[in-house]
Amino acid sequence: MKFDTPAGQNPIDRAKVVGCAHDRIDGPFKTTGQAPYAYEHHRHVGNPAYGYVVGSAIAKGRIRSIKLDAAKVAPGVLAIVAATDTGKLGKGDFNTVKLFGGPEIDHYHQAIAVVVAETFEQARAAAALVRVDYDRGQGRFDLDEALKTAPLTGGDSNQGGAPKADRTGSFEEAFARAPVTLDALYSTPDHSHAMMEPHASIAAWNGDQLTLWTSSQMINWGRSDLAKTLGIPKEKIRFLSPFIGGGFGGKLFLRTDAVLAALGAKAAGRPVKLALPRPFVANNTTHRPATRQRIRIGAERDGTITAIAHESGSGDQPNGEPETAVNQTKLLYAGANRLTAMRLAVLDLPEGNAMRAPGEAPGLMALEIAMDEMAEKLGMDPVDFRVRNDTQVDPEKPARRFSERQLIRCLREGADRFGWSQRKARPGQVRDGRWLIGMGMAAAFRNHINFPSGARVRLSGDGRVMVETDMTDIGTGSYTIIAQTAAEMMGVPIEAVTVKLGSSDFPVAAGSGGQFGAANSTAGVYAACVKLREEVAGRLGFNSTDAVFEAGKVRSGNRSAPLAQAAAGGDLVAEDKIEFGDLGKTHQLSTFGSHFVEVGVDAYTGVTRVRRMLAVCAAGRIINPKSARSQVIGAMTMGVGSALMEELAVDKRFGFFVNHDLAGYEVPVHADIPHQDVVFLDEADDKANPMKAKGVGELGLCGVGAAVANAIYNATGVRVRDYPITLEKHLARLPTLA
Ligand code: MOS
Repeated sequence: MKFDTPAGQNPIDRAKVVGCAHDRIDGPFKTTGQAPYAYEHHRHVGNPAYGYVVGSAIAKGRIRSIKLDAAKVAPGVLAIVAATDTGKLGKGDFNTVKLFGGPEIDHYHQAIAVVVAETFEQARAAAALVRVDYDRGQGRFDLDEALKTAPLTGGDSNQGGAPKADRTGSFEEAFARAPVTLDALYSTPDHSHAMMEPHASIAAWNGDQLTLWTSSQMINWGRSDLAKTLGIPKEKIRFLSPFIGGGFGGKLFLRTDAVLAALGAKAAGRPVKLALPRPFVANNTTHRPATRQRIRIGAERDGTITAIAHESGSGDQPNGEPETAVNQTKLLYAGANRLTAMRLAVLDLPEGNAMRAPGEAPGLMALEIAMDEMAEKLGMDPVDFRVRNDTQVDPEKPARRFSERQLIRCLREGADRFGWSQRKARPGQVRDGRWLIGMGMAAAFRNHINFPSGARVRLSGDGRVMVETDMTDIGTGSYTIIAQTAAEMMGVPIEAVTVKLGSSDFPVAAGSGGQFGAANSTAGVYAACVKLREEVAGRLGFNSTDAVFEAGKVRSGNRSAPLAQAAAGGDLVAEDKIEFGDLGKTHQLSTFGSHFVEVGVDAYTGVTRVRRMLAVCAAGRIINPKSARSQVIGAMTMGVGSALMEELAVDKRFGFFVNHDLAGYEVPVHADIPHQDVVFLDEADDKANPMKAKGVGELGLCGVGAAVANAIYNATGVRVRDYPITLEKHLARLPTLA
């Protein structure tokens, strides 16, 4: 189905199942331990051996020799594959750096060998006996140093290419003329995905056929890149990922665990299971790159922005991509004179890549502090300042309207519900015992991405509907919203729908990434169901255009028949995919929100505690308000992490992330998050897809960091522009206590 004109009325608008808060249908499987994660497919693989990864101990240089003698004769060892045997391995399209290093080393903990043994402990012990001699080379690990000479870059991983610097009007002239200006620098650190389930795979060969159970957000990308890496046709690989313990972008692309499990299994002649030990997640896989951002804003005294510039610098491995932190500044606020640009430095740290809301997440951490600073300079309320600079058109291309843009409503409604009018504009005014209390807010913005997505649906003689698609559920609720969609389309209760996901046996879907999963994968299911409805109507002798599918029946005029009857002679199967025309080009598809936060800062210690949070989101139709709310509160929690604690500490001498585990890489826990509220505005975006839905999972993160930062400033009067806002960054400047 090609979606190229705005959606009219369709069965989804009935909203009997779609749009209703529904429990996760996979919930009972998970809470009873029946949902197997990548490392747990005991039912399918009887006698696996265990693989253990050996990672490079240097960040840059060359392997001089690898001695395997001691490891080979260690107890239980079945096989070792080392960098010396892997010369012919390819590199996947989505990997910037080879997943198996050697003899050249690209980064610390790049895999250079895998040891396979009877037990995990034996594999780990033998891996410690592998002796590697290196020639250590000179690496580049200091972002600030590298940015001094880094070139301008284009290229936006989400949008497929951007010019090196985007200009509209004449920024410099307008900025020089503006009566009120801000010119400030902001920094965000490297972030680790730190998902609950580490990367893990089980590989089993049957002749030249490989079955891989793994933990992947994108089945088809992973399968193609594994084929490319191993140098075999992709048809030879079954790639399975039915349940996933979080990803946040860290599992978008093929990773080492899959490659090593496949190579180890081949060498050992046995199925092999391999999980990355927690410390490898930081340095062996990808991370969100650190940024250095400069923002300049010029405005009239009435708060109208006349000039806005956002420049961002980040680093990555050679041939890597920039963190596109200027994305939102192209679209969020009006202003006739504009400049956005990015610089990309070459670093020899592990590969930087997508992490939840890549671009907007760190970009808004800076922009939305800048907006707060600017509002203060103008003597305006931060909500009013944002409202003043709303735009209903793409500010760089005014002929393009936003498909839906309810930013003002998000801001106003958030302010009302949060009690924003109680906020004192002058900082450092509110005390609660030893706590300095402050409120902050930020706008939320994240683009919506159209992504082709396919599905197969089957109606059987008992009236049940089965959906098969390679869409993944990374803990987000995909199983449930897909069941809701099929139930709504076929007019059956959700209990009558079975959903099968995460297998390369099924049609290729959007997968989970860039908050594009929910809206696109359900639109693919919608397309397949439209076909199935036509089949059903044909079988039952109805005209498909006026047939109503409801309560297990198909009705047309005064005639009605049970849905199941259509499949009495055998299952009916339909397959289709959603594809997109130009609506996403003629219109800007984006999602909007507002975040409001109250914090307390301990006047004695400088410790910040979040007291309460509110998000108001406008992101098209909300397919399941319950799972969408879970996505948003999870994202808000992640936003608190980025504001207050998350930071990969770079060892600039040896070139690695030091705090490579969950003891050293801190993320919020329940005790850090006392109260969260989420409100969705009703909206059906008919230019997005037939579901009239857009992404929402990443929107919940966008802007949170700045809302926390602005609340801290409102509490203390001390502005910190360098994340995370840990106590030492403001302690010495906190107001003295009486
Ligand atoms: Mo997201 S960074 O595409 O999981």
